[in-house]
Amino acid sequence: MVIKAFLFDLDGVIVDTAIFHYQAWRRMANELGFDISEEFNEQLKGVSRVESLEIILQHGGLTLPEERKAELAAQKNQWYLDLVSRMTPNDILPGVPAFFSQVRDAGIKTALGSVSKNARLILDRIGMSDAFGTVIDGNKITRGKPDPEVFLKGADELGVSPADCVVFEDAVAGIDAAKRADMIAVGIGSPDVLTQADIVVPSLEHLTVPQLLKSLDRTAGLDVY
Ligand code: BG6
Ligand code: MG
Repeated sequence: MVIKAFLFDLDGVIVDTAIFHYQAWRRMANELGFDISEEFNEQLKGVSRVESLEIILQHGGLTLPEERKAELAAQKNQWYLDLVSRMTPNDILPGVPAFFSQVRDAGIKTALGSVSKNARLILDRIGMSDAFGTVIDGNKITRGKPDPEVFLKGADELGVSPADCVVFEDAVAGIDAAKRADMIAVGIGSPDVLTQADIVVPSLEHLTVPQLLKSLDRTAGLDVY
């Protein structure tokens, strides 16, 4: 195995938009008369807008007509975009710029693998539009995570075999997608939540490229950082 490409999730890995998604969904749930907890929110991470809405409505015990669901999804997106519109390069998560410069130095290819339809907009806001070899977002795929499509497409566009790819993910669904794509999964967050990840670190700030490559090299069975 030779690591040739790193595939990054966006929300919760490069920027902390995961909290904006939660705030917007919570506002919607509250207006519908129920609440969603942070713990509940874990299962929404990495899941598409439409599927997230279904999970939330089921949680609230609501069955709504398609038309109303479309209105709610659009309203949630508007609230989300209001939060995103205030973002600047200062919102890039700690450790990301330094990690990316090491990735470039190591000659490793990069892809963004996000199911968000707003990914391009966010990359523009934070000044990272040109940071990736290729960008796969919600507009380029038909199936959200945990389906591996987003990562397989990223590897394909980079011309790299899935087995030579490492995925960086903060979502349970994203780690599942990476494993189904036959890739190495680095979890960003808590090992208690991201139980299927090969390695888990609190953030990219806690990782260097040489250290990661060494750890992947050392362990056929990869250890927890
Ligand atoms: C993922 C987020 O990146 O994108 C999910 O983790 C979100 O929470 C999904 O639902 C879709 O995003 P968007 O921006 O298209 O609504
Ligand atoms: Mg994420």
